[in-house]
Amino acid sequence: MRKLKVILLEASLELAPSNWPYGPLIDKRYHYHKLSNFPQKWKRGRPDILHTTLLILQDSVLNREGLLELYFHTITGEVYKVRSDERVPKHYDAFKEIMAQLLQYGKVPRDSEEPLIWKAYDDLSQFVKDHGKFILMHEKGELRRVSEVVSEAIETNAAIGIGVFPRGDFRRSTIKKARKLYSIWKDSLKAWTVACKLVSSAEELLIQFS
Ligand SMILES: C[S@@+](CC[C@H](N)C(=O)[O-])C[C@H]1O[C@@H](n2cnc3c(N)ncnc32)[C@H](O)[C@@H]1O
Repeated sequence: MRKLKVILLEASLELAPSNWPYGPLIDKRYHYHKLSNFPQKWKRGRPDILHTTLLILQDSVLNREGLLELYFHTITGEVYKVRSDERVPKHYDAFKEIMAQLLQYGKVPRDSEEPLIWKAYDDLSQFVKDHGKFILMHEKGELRRVSEVVSEAIETNAAIGIGVFPRGDFRRSTIKKARKLYSIWKDSLKAWTVACKLVSSAEELLIQFS
């Protein structure tokens, strides 16, 4: 079956040290000063970007029709798969709690045989070995219509990668795993806007509405 495959990249999802208040995840809203000496601090402490983007993707008609295959990758390297028929918690605090469980135990719920989210690959290289190089959405890529990007991805069974970090660029090691870099507008967009455009376009292509 033809599907859209999406991987959200370099999500800033990290457990806060146990002696930090307002855990369980590092969250810039509460840990701004504590992050000041961290490397690449501008890319860290924003799990809300992953949360919003996951909610949009999971609640899309495309996903509800079973036509979306969804993964996310974190800045610490692991790749997780999200089951299509389950719901990510809408409340941000609940989301942070299950993400902390995921980082600790590799799946949520931790005792389930059919988890909602689980670790599928230890790193992005393993994902690429199984799925091939991905098409990377990038504001400085070649300008393309969204429909062209989506058609190419579906026809070639390539995943589409979207960055879910707050500022800056992808790591060089991430860019090297892309076979193409495409831009869909002249300026920088938010991850959830790009996700929304991709699923809308894929719905037009894959779903018979009549
Ligand atoms: C990581 S964030 C934005 C970070 C941005 N570089 C900044 O410093 O504000 C949004 C993600 O959405 C995608 N994106 C943003 N603008 C885009 C555009 N014009 N065309 C295609 N994808 C875009 C990229 O995958 C990007 O990594």
